[in-house]
Amino acid sequence: MSSGTKDEGTRTPRTLEEGERVLVRAKEGESYLLRLTRGTTLVDSLGVIDLTPAIGAPEGVAVDIAGRTFHVYRPSLSDLASQMHRRSQIITPKDALALVYLAGVVPGSLVLEAGSGSGGLTLFLATYVGPAGHVVSYDRRPEHQKVARENIERAGLAGRVTFREKDVTGGFEETGADAVILDLPEPWDVLPSALSALRAGGHVATYVPTYNQLERSVRALRTHGLQDVRALESLVRGLHVGEGGTRPEFEMLGHTGFLASGRKVD
Ligand SMILES: C[S@@+](CC[C@H](N)C(=O)[O-])C[C@H]1O[C@@H](n2cnc3c(N)ncnc32)[C@H](O)[C@@H]1O
Repeated sequence: MSSGTKDEGTRTPRTLEEGERVLVRAKEGESYLLRLTRGTTLVDSLGVIDLTPAIGAPEGVAVDIAGRTFHVYRPSLSDLASQMHRRSQIITPKDALALVYLAGVVPGSLVLEAGSGSGGLTLFLATYVGPAGHVVSYDRRPEHQKVARENIERAGLAGRVTFREKDVTGGFEETGADAVILDLPEPWDVLPSALSALRAGGHVATYVPTYNQLERSVRALRTHGLQDVRALESLVRGLHVGEGGTRPEFEMLGHTGFLASGRKVD
């Protein structure tokens, strides 16, 4: 297993292992997602590097690269999210986490997702379902899904995700899903397909950028008889912490999207 998550159900080893994926980070914050191999490798914008001293060393070990000090870690979810390549608009971590919460995603869940986009939400879902769960990610645009697939492979989570290139208005291929999450412009059109794929008691969650789309999404959830219908927006404000001068950051992400969810009854 190559990400920070161990699929064998054992605890993460204390030392870094040859072949696993690691984050190589400079003090200034510059970081690279690389595979820990023996010998020299050529890395764009770093040149020739040798990570051999990090093999068998504890996480956070310092290595010298071209006279600069870098530290080597197993990548966290936040590291993986910040290292993603983008083709379509990627979901923000605050919204991905709120969707995991609203949709009741837990270890072992079977989650269906549309669309894959760049795989931003897929990364969070694949992490939270754990080794016993699975994510099936749909997109009708192959060029988007290609980026999502590459991002999930780079994160070492390919074993937990199946990608299907398909327009979900025509239906999902699975049944009995624990959750269906819709990040596409017209979730109301897809709701009948989502409900056919969902088990009784499972959750549908939607993510849309405008109030008009939110109203229409919630109307559709209610019309289709879902229960516990909820809507929310997640706003996160960073804090600048300085001794005697702690205050909110001046800049804040003012708007991303609105989330809604409901629960299927038998
Ligand atoms: C905003 S992007 C999703 C972003 C993704 N959640 C992420 O975090 O990277 C929306 C995606 O939905 C796909 N899409 C839109 N309507 C669809 C449909 N009916 N069936 C399948 N995919 C659809 C688009 O091709 C696009 O890639």
